[in-house]
Amino acid sequence: MVQHFGVIGFPVGHSLSPWIHQQFFQKSGIQGTYRKIAIAPDRFAQEITQLLSGDMHGFNVTVPYKEAIIPFLDELADNAASIGAVNTVTKKDGKWVGFNTDGIGFLRSIGTRFPDFLDELDKKILILGAGGAARGIYAAMLQTGMPVIDIANRTRASAEKLSQLNSGNTSSAVLSLEDAEASINKYDLIIQTTSVGMEPDDEGQLVKLGKLRTNTIVSDIVYKPIMTKLLKQAEQRGARIHQGHLMLLHQARYAFEIWTECKVDVQSMDIELKAVLEGR
Ligand code: ATR
Repeated sequence: MVQHFGVIGFPVGHSLSPWIHQQFFQKSGIQGTYRKIAIAPDRFAQEITQLLSGDMHGFNVTVPYKEAIIPFLDELADNAASIGAVNTVTKKDGKWVGFNTDGIGFLRSIGTRFPDFLDELDKKILILGAGGAARGIYAAMLQTGMPVIDIANRTRASAEKLSQLNSGNTSSAVLSLEDAEASINKYDLIIQTTSVGMEPDDEGQLVKLGKLRTNTIVSDIVYKPIMTKLLKQAEQRGARIHQGHLMLLHQARYAFEIWTECKVDVQSMDIELKAVLEGR
């Protein structure tokens, strides 16, 4: 049986998800289709209702519908409810269920690239930004039980709101970007979650890494360009880097797993995806 999937958003023209899921179909032997579905905001309610009554097995949700989709679903997975955003929808026992695979995908991409990093619960983590992407990543990071997960953001109130997701023993200080820069040598992992540094703003860099330790991992969720200014500076300082396409790959892999219960091997896809991105 051919299973039908897709991504809804506006616009969706640049989405790499069709390419990624085509690779997953080939690797898994699952017969499927994956299409881009652009829905204009004034037609959202109508089109989503039609989509949900159709023959799709599941779909991804991207900007600007990650929150707007929620009232149309029957259930939310725990993490999607606490994050307040859905990027993956699946049909389960006749019900439409919403998940958020961004943060867990990010976490898995760190675990794959740096297999020992998450083993010891002694890491100090800094999240830069407090928007939608930061929310998913912060929620997933809290689940690791790491002792320190600080948040630095231009607008303090947004970071404070985000830190309210923390109900455990993790210490989460809210910092200005200047304070984060001054204490950058404190952290084992720094995660840049904003769009600063993304094409065409290639020269953008949210914080300077002058005081960075060489054993720190610097991660940037921006994948266009694949080497952001922040990552270049991290590499120059001798630190380890984690590029944005890895999160993209692993959040897609987790979505595919939710839909099909199949865990595809993404080892070699890292390089292929990098080539696709660089060739564009
Ligand atoms: P997304 O859902 O993609 O994360 P978002 O919710 O609009 O997007 O969040 C954008 C994040 O990037 C915010 O943390 C934002 O900071 P503010 O809360 O101060 O707005 C941050 N951001 C975007 N552009 C920025 C810039 N030029 N300088 C500093 N922070 C920026």
